Amino acid sequence: MFNFAQISDCHISEPHGMADRMYQTARHLRRAVAHLNGLAQPPDFVLCTGDLVDSGGSGEYAILADLLGQLAAPFYLLPGNHDDRDAMRLAFPEHGYLAGPEGFMQYTIEDWPLRLIALDTLVPGQSGGQLCEIRLKWLDEKLSEQPDRPTVLFMHHPPFRAGLVKMDKVGLEDRTGLADLVRRHGQVEAILAGHLHRFITRRFAGTVAMTAPGTAHQIALEPGPEERLSLTMEPPGCLLHLWLGGEDGLVSHVSYTGGCYPVHTVFADG
Ligand SMILES: [Fe+2]
Repeated sequence: MFNFAQISDCHISEPHGMADRMYQTARHLRRAVAHLNGLAQPPDFVLCTGDLVDSGGSGEYAILADLLGQLAAPFYLLPGNHDDRDAMRLAFPEHGYLAGPEGFMQYTIEDWPLRLIALDTLVPGQSGGQLCEIRLKWLDEKLSEQPDRPTVLFMHHPPFRAGLVKMDKVGLEDRTGLADLVRRHGQVEAILAGHLHRFITRRFAGTVAMTAPGTAHQIALEPGPEERLSLTMEPPGCLLHLWLGGEDGLVSHVSYTGGCYPVHTVFADG
């Protein structure tokens, strides 16, 4: 057995930046890192499923690199719609896998009985995500290489609508391409995503898909006035994925990482 953690939507901003002022995102990530390091069974590695920083600035990535550098376990990065690929590569030069095929941050992790495949859904300048023909073709090739090996896909934008009105408008475009591909490759155990700042799970193309909570602010199920996005300080958290293998496969748990706030709700524009 081995286990790995998934943290998502850290939204690190510079001190006194909006995300820092409103949600103390760096302080919350520091707590999440301490939480993971202190687990009785610490993760063997950590996936970071995008929106690593709030506005893609190099100063933000420097803070992120310092915080993630305190993780005892190795970690893997993915971009979300708030990220900037060039700034990520500059901030994490030792993460050579970020070079990716044709400029996309797609890669595989081959060191464990469970294979992991990272998908890059970022479209610069857009809140919604996309898996274009190039990215899907690459995934098809990777899945074809090892059809009998249990595999997890991880990405920022989830491939499903979640009933969060505002977020569903900035989801993954054209989900049918991915769905067709997953149906053809039966080894996909699960699809792990972020973006929704909330644990949500559903069936997708014959596999299980889920999103992780944010390490700081969460998105409330109930919309704000006029269907505006409703952000809440419900408990920050992460996911812990246990690979039990055999008939037990992959088991995913929510793990709360501690918060600095009482629960309250604020409303923000998209
Ligand atoms: Fe986010």
